[in-house]
Amino acid sequence: MVKKMTVPAIRDHKAAQGVDPLVMVTAYDAPGARMVDEAGVDMILVGDSLAMVVLGYENTLQVTVDDIAHHTAAVARTKPQALVVADMPWMSYHVSTEDTLRNAAQLIRAGAGAIKLEGGRRRLPMIEALVAAEIPVMGHVGLTPQSVHAMGGFKVQARNTKAALDLVDAAKALVHAGCFSLVLEGVPAEVAAMVTEAVDVSTIGIGAGPHCDGQVLVFHDVLGIEKRVLPKFVRRYADLHGTGVAALKEFAADVRSGEFPAPQEVYGLCDEVAEELKLYGMG
Ligand code: KIV
Repeated sequence: MVKKMTVPAIRDHKAAQGVDPLVMVTAYDAPGARMVDEAGVDMILVGDSLAMVVLGYENTLQVTVDDIAHHTAAVARTKPQALVVADMPWMSYHVSTEDTLRNAAQLIRAGAGAIKLEGGRRRLPMIEALVAAEIPVMGHVGLTPQSVHAMGGFKVQARNTKAALDLVDAAKALVHAGCFSLVLEGVPAEVAAMVTEAVDVSTIGIGAGPHCDGQVLVFHDVLGIEKRVLPKFVRRYADLHGTGVAALKEFAADVRSGEFPAPQEVYGLCDEVAEELKLYGMG
């Protein structure tokens, strides 16, 4: 039987020798969570990518704590073996520590085992307050999609010496503040390697090359559920969009031609009731 993945297990993963890299995939609902868990991933991220891949927004800024809590609860109801990590939405951890704690508690009560938040040194007071309240925190540095306006778009970060050194410094500070793991997004592979070397918790990369302690991708990207143009770091393992559209076209054609429903797909009355109804001029 596969054991339930826990925050300490993820934290200690780095220290263990010869272990496989960690695998994290997003999920936003019960069927998705079941698929991801059955595939044996270590962590399920209820990401704020929900905004773009499920709710149809252009960036991640539109989702609320209620949205993430709603989807976290759906994922958690499946009782996955994987650790469920819920994303703190934009503006849910920026205003005050009280507000941050209340919002994080809502996600933990919805069923998350940990929360993730974006940003560097500016987040330290919030991270410290969360950790002091026993809420495990995964950090997220590099390309932080909630900073889309400040960054001027979704751009690879830490491409010059100063930015690379600042990133390493920020990662160390986040870990010192208590983060049990760090997502490194959209940074050169060499910089991700420097961060991974510099911290004693597992780094989980997305668009950050092969030297991280684990990798994360978005469910809809891995399975090809959307036709959108994907960033170069995504590998698509299936074309569920194509398969799904083909199946739906077949269904539509069968309905229009009268092929669906077939006799075996229909409920019927017993002969006696059918005869009786005829007496009433029906059937
Ligand atoms: O929201 C999300 O899916 C994420 C991953 C891209 C790491 O934050």
